Amino acid sequence: MTYFSNPVETPSQQRLIEPPTDKLVVPSRATMHRETHLVIPHGHEQHGYGGASPRALLFSLVIPTFNEQENLPVLVQQLTTLLDAAIPHQYELIVVDDDSPDQTWQRGLELTQMFPQVHVMRRVGEKGLSSAVIRGWQVAQGEILGVIDADLQHPPKVLLDLLAKVRDGADLAVGSRHVEGGGVSEWSIVRRFLSRGAQVLGLLILPHVVGRVSDPMSGYFVCRRAAIADVELHPQGYKILLEVLGRGTVDVIDEAGYVFQERTAGASKVTWKQYIDYIHHLLRLRSLGSMGKIRRNFPVKAFFRFALVGLSGVLIDMAVLYLLHTGLGLPLTRSKIVAAEVAILNNFVWNDLWTFATISRSQKGWGAKFKRFLKFNMICLAGLVLNVLVLNLIYNVVFGQKWAYLANLLAIGLVTIWNFWLNLKLSWRVTQVDDPRSQGH
Ligand code: GDD
Ligand code: MN
Repeated sequence: MTYFSNPVETPSQQRLIEPPTDKLVVPSRATMHRETHLVIPHGHEQHGYGGASPRALLFSLVIPTFNEQENLPVLVQQLTTLLDAAIPHQYELIVVDDDSPDQTWQRGLELTQMFPQVHVMRRVGEKGLSSAVIRGWQVAQGEILGVIDADLQHPPKVLLDLLAKVRDGADLAVGSRHVEGGGVSEWSIVRRFLSRGAQVLGLLILPHVVGRVSDPMSGYFVCRRAAIADVELHPQGYKILLEVLGRGTVDVIDEAGYVFQERTAGASKVTWKQYIDYIHHLLRLRSLGSMGKIRRNFPVKAFFRFALVGLSGVLIDMAVLYLLHTGLGLPLTRSKIVAAEVAILNNFVWNDLWTFATISRSQKGWGAKFKRFLKFNMICLAGLVLNVLVLNLIYNVVFGQKWAYLANLLAIGLVTIWNFWLNLKLSWRVTQVDDPRSQGH
């Protein structure tokens, strides 16, 4: 409403921050992202939002909201009082509202008149607590990032403890209900049981992540930007802290106790779905451990090409085998050896030109190419021996001298796996590692 009023007479209200729509990656430096979306509040240019480049702030606190219009003004009042005393002009509060039906975002905008350090993002397309927090961090200008619930269940005073711990060297400081000074107010036995049950489940599925903090369910924490910067986050459901612990670079962790307050206004958004999300999230982070590393290091494209080349080899192998064995009536083993060697040649040409093109291109010349061929052939010859053995085993022993082609197909399948694995480990890869050494001579 004060949108178009004269900014000289009334301090102007800020505009909404445009939510980022790219990947959920927090940049390692305070972002420029926001500059274009901000209307600099009149008379507040010196606070670090004006000028050509935004000045990095010490601290950015994200407040995720959904239908919290009653709570937000109270929280902002309390937080600004605390932070203005502790770190004046060095912080910002970023409200990230998911287009609340009660128009919490509008309430937030009104607050920016009196509190220029408050910024508001209204998300329309995207939903969910965890991604809201990350979207807020993505546009943050602070070197230290934090999150607090909007519903006053997280006592604001504890924020100063958390902030101090990070400034004292912690990468992450977590508000905890389960350490000295922490607790829950009036929780029923059932609720305590559910909360602890979720924690135990987490300890079972993901001990090295969940076990690092006393309150892994906490949504009240402060961390160094560097601890979570430049990694793509895939949060699910409510528990953003799991994501920070699971994917971030967090060495030193500290905790501060707090008592989880009862809500006095608004309603909790927790449903049974959050429990499902939580388990799903744990499992996903778990697969990040060993399988995730393999997946990240696995050359998917090269494997796809290798498999295609292998398929062309199968067809050639089959065709030559048919020609020699059925057509010319040569014995199966001898026919197979020739068929396989022709296929090996075919596969080398394509793998060298296409599958591992980057590596072969870095090693020019016919000499180097020939060396690669010898290596490849050596591995494949070992594979060929295996192939003949397996073919004979399947043909003679398993199938009782029947179905030679099916036996050959099975043998080829097994040997392809063998070939890929060895070539991945030894062939083109080894020449790559050898490279710097040979350059030294
Ligand atoms: N933007 C956005 N989008 N905010 C949301 C959403 C959403 O989809 N869902 C919830 N919020 C906001 C709420 O408005 C509130 O500020 C905060 O996130 C927490 O939501 P509550 O629904 O009040 O959660 P709670 O009190 O039951 O759950 C809390 O449990 C922990 C303790 O186990 C967690 O959220 C933690 O923060 C807390 O420490
Ligand atoms: Mn709450």
